[in-house]
Order: sequence, then C-alpha cells, then structure tokens
Amino acid sequence: MSKDVLKFVRPSLHGLKPYIPGKPIAEVQKEFGLTEVVKLASNENPIGPSKHAQQAIQAALGDLHRYPDGGQLELKHELAKFYNISEDMIIVGNGSDEVITLFCTTFLEPGDEIIVPSPTFSEYMFGSTLMAGKTVEVPLREGFAYDLADFAKAITDRTRMIFLCVPNNPTGTYIKHAELESFLQNISPDILVVLDEAYNEYVESEDCAQGLEFLRKGYNVAVMRTFSKLYALAALRIGYTMAKPEVIGFVNRVREPFNVNHLAQVGAIAALHDKEHTESSRRVNSQGKRVLYEGFTKLGLRYIPTEANFILVNAGVDSMQLFQSLLKEGVIVRAGSFFGLPSWIRVSIGLPEENERLLQALAVSLQELKATV
Ligand SMILES: Cc1ncc(COP(=O)(O)O)c(C=O)c1O
Repeated sequence: MSKDVLKFVRPSLHGLKPYIPGKPIAEVQKEFGLTEVVKLASNENPIGPSKHAQQAIQAALGDLHRYPDGGQLELKHELAKFYNISEDMIIVGNGSDEVITLFCTTFLEPGDEIIVPSPTFSEYMFGSTLMAGKTVEVPLREGFAYDLADFAKAITDRTRMIFLCVPNNPTGTYIKHAELESFLQNISPDILVVLDEAYNEYVESEDCAQGLEFLRKGYNVAVMRTFSKLYALAALRIGYTMAKPEVIGFVNRVREPFNVNHLAQVGAIAALHDKEHTESSRRVNSQGKRVLYEGFTKLGLRYIPTEANFILVNAGVDSMQLFQSLLKEGVIVRAGSFFGLPSWIRVSIGLPEENERLLQALAVSLQELKATV
C-alpha cells in the first residue's frame, strides 16, 4: 500500500496519533553518554517490585508452556475477598489501558459521546476514537480543580460514559466524595461513570471520592484500578475494573480469552498481599512529595498539590526545551506540551536521591534556559 493507504483506513482513525511513552532510561544513557539516569516520567513506583511478587514469578517460570488462566479465577477470588465484593463484579486486563479500550468497544457506537476532563489521561480519547465516538472535553477550573457542574452541562442524549480520573493524571487533583455523590444522584443511571482510580492508593485527603462506595450503593459506576503504580508491576501489564455484574458480564464478552499473562496474575496476587511493600511505597511517596514541594518553592516554581505519585509544576519556560535540557542532566520528566500545557512539566515522585537529582538539575536547566531568553 502506498500513500493511498488513507483510502483503506477507517476515516475516524485518520487523526489518531500514536501514544508517545516516557523516554526509556537505556535510550537516554546511550544518547547522552550518561551512566546515571533518573526516570521520573511515567509515574512508576521508585522502590521497585515487591519481593514476594518476584518470588511468586520465579516460582511460576516452569509453567510458561501452559496458557494462562483465561478466567483469572484465583486473582479475581483474591480481589473479591480484598474488597468484599463478588467475583462477577471484576474484570482483569492487560493493564488498565486495555480495560479502557474494552469499555469503549463494549459501550460506544459511532457518534456516541464520552465526557472527559481536560487535561487528563489520553487513553479515554483513544478508546472513543477507535470506536468513531466523540470525546467531549470539559476544561478543569483554576488550579485544575474539578467542577462537576461543568460535566453535568456537557451531557447530551449521546453521552454513554463519563470518565473521571481521580486523582487526575497529570494534575493530581481530585473530586470530593460528597460532590461526586450529588452528581451521581442527578444524572441518568443509563450513563456509566467510569472512575479511573489508578492512583487511589496514594490518596491522603480523607474527603477524596471513593468509587467502591458508590458501586456498593448501587450507582452505575465502574472503578478502574491497576497493579502498575503502588503495586509496582508496570512491566507485567495488569489492571482491573469493578462494576455491576451485568456491566462486567458484557465487557467480558469483548475480552480476548488469554489477555492477562500467567506471570502477571501470580505476581499481582503476591503484590496485593504484601503490606510491607505497599506501606513503604506510600511512605516514600508522602515524604518525597513534601521534599519536592519545598524544593519547588525554593526555586520559585508554582506546583499543583497532588494526591498521587506525581506533581505538575509550572516551570515558566517552554516545557520541551526544559525536557531536553533535563535529559542532558540525566533526568527524564514528562513535558506538559503532551497535555496542552506548554510551560508545565509533570514529575513523578522518586526516591530521596532521585528527588534531589531532579531539584539540582532543575536549578541548572532553568538558569541556563532563562539566560538564553
Ligand atoms: C490515570 C491512568 N489510568 C490508567 C493508566 C494505565 O495503567 P496500566 O499501566 O494499568 O495500563 C495510567 C498510566 O499511567 C494512568 O495514569
């Protein structure tokens, strides 16, 4: 096929851009001849995977000739016990990314609408574009605060799903539980409200919305969680969603039979129960957050208080230039231009020494960039 390929590609996909992931450490090492590179670009858990998960994966290596459990029975059993819900309320995917796509595949016909905050995680729009759906973006307010009245106004008779990312990526801002409850009370139960809680386990504010409570009360919500963040298994690709059995039952029909590999399933079960690992992950994040807040303040930078494991910072310079300059210093961050925020960067909270490296590199890069303006 030549450039005429566009004749064969579905028109609704013509504008689709490939996802640009955070730059890998090895690539930066090679490109800049560096040995020590700190990656704070993809909101990964800096303390590394749980030892128990690693042992469970080692022990499972001899089973690699077998297909994984296509029903993910043991993992669903453990998750159901963990949350005190029934197993038919859970679907497991090859990362939450896959589950987002599965929900869009299941519920969207061409022209159907989803509502998302702006800025937010790009996969909701990706899923709706795949299905020739329309993504209605609702800008967040001053300080990237949610105002659910704006979302209510965006509802039309084509709205099928509302994706609310809590805490929101890339802003770290959240929705108050009471505000979400009155929103849910006032919208049609035919609209599925998807709460992407990828960073829920890091939340410190007690008034943050908890999707599971709404699911238990019978609202039409789906609660997305992942093993990629607090549970530190991003490389294995495993996430899950909890919703009413009838919702899960349909999404399950769209799922491929062996979508989650065996090592991911056994690793996830072990990680779920490794309290020491999850508690130290939360502690490192909470302490790192405070150190970075202080460091940004000293550098005169405005940041958005976060409930997650990353912070959005207004660097006051072009984010792509700053991104490039930080790479030379051996620090990988996420440029805000990916989210339509050209003077902001998003940084993941790292280990104490990584946070220190980031603050030092920022001081150097900002001085250089401001001197050249
Ligand atoms: C808000 C949000 N949801 C979902 C995901 C994807 O999670 P997973 O690694 O399980 O696909 C991410 C990853 O960064 C995210 O930020």
